[in-house]
Amino acid sequence: MLRRYLNKARYRRLGLPVYLMIEPASTCNLRCPYCSALQTSEAVPSGIMKLEQFQGLLDDILARKNYCPPLDLFYRGEPLINPDFAAMVRSAAERSLTVGTSTNATLLNERRRGEILTSGLATMIVSFDGATKQTYEAHRVGAVFEKVVENVSAFTAERRRRRLKRPFVDLQFIVTRKNHHEIDLMRELCRQMGVDHLSLKSMRVPLMDRPLEEALALGRDLLPDDPAFRRYREVRDEEGRVCGYECLTAMQTCEWGRSAAIRANGDIGLCCQDYGDTVRIGNVFEANFWELWWSETYRKIRESIGQRRLPICRTCD
Ligand SMILES: C[S@@+](CC[C@H](N)C(=O)[O-])C[C@H]1O[C@@H](n2cnc3c(N)ncnc32)[C@H](O)[C@@H]1O
Ligand code: SF4
Ligand code: SF4
Repeated sequence: MLRRYLNKARYRRLGLPVYLMIEPASTCNLRCPYCSALQTSEAVPSGIMKLEQFQGLLDDILARKNYCPPLDLFYRGEPLINPDFAAMVRSAAERSLTVGTSTNATLLNERRRGEILTSGLATMIVSFDGATKQTYEAHRVGAVFEKVVENVSAFTAERRRRRLKRPFVDLQFIVTRKNHHEIDLMRELCRQMGVDHLSLKSMRVPLMDRPLEEALALGRDLLPDDPAFRRYREVRDEEGRVCGYECLTAMQTCEWGRSAAIRANGDIGLCCQDYGDTVRIGNVFEANFWELWWSETYRKIRESIGQRRLPICRTCD
């Protein structure tokens, strides 16, 4: 823990990325209504990163001496769609990186369980937004409740059987108007599934990637009344109708000026929120990662993130 903190401080001082996010797959098998990946999936090139490409990229990045940043293997899309997901984790963990991921767990079958449990994965977020079949399937559109409960339960049971501590399984529940009443039930289901932690997350209204009317309708439909799970204040027009959302956390510093997000096709993106590829900062399969990182273009983009000058940053929370 202390070593990680000191490393982060050192990377900051040296201007190196303090965190890396690499996307194993840019497509998804679900259609969660609040997710931006779904809106942009037709607009952006879909793809799967090849294992050799990933390993080459790691070689480039870790050629920098004494550099060992935390790595998350997800971005847009569902990471387990990539058949080499576990091999990617293994190859990063073998090089001493701490690796995490976030998954909808629909593809966490028996074979994937074994592969992932032995891969060295440190943390696995399971995105799961409902404690009953009806609610869960209305949020995670395309998934089958019983199947995913079974996948997660079998995963933690197998981890126990093998006496493994990792990966730490964090179940992440986006609190909406339609599942808020199931929070206690969710705590109970988490116990039954054997997960290590339940994180309750507030919903982002995807103002950046769909027509305003659509985003507002989604907000009306899904934002809960409970202020503990609302990151917005409503903006109203002269007739009292909601015409926008002002984010209460918008003034917080954005860490993406010190981190890097790499898409499945090798493009460096702006951040985890740029689902629609509004910014492309070169391609790591065509140029060396560090050349891109230190390039004038990327430096300027990092500066403008800090000052929230890019159009996408102005509506972001
Ligand atoms: C885009 S998903 C990609 C990984 C994987 N498919 C999953 O669902 O975990 C990454 C995370 O973003 C979360 N997410 C998607 N839309 C969101 C929203 N509108 N507000 C808050 N979190 C959201 C998902 O629940 C998930 O935990
Ligand atoms: S499973 Fe993940 S990437 Fe897919 S639509 Fe849902 S939140 Fe988005
Ligand atoms: S402020 Fe800009 S860079 Fe930061 S997360 Fe939002 S869109 Fe991305």
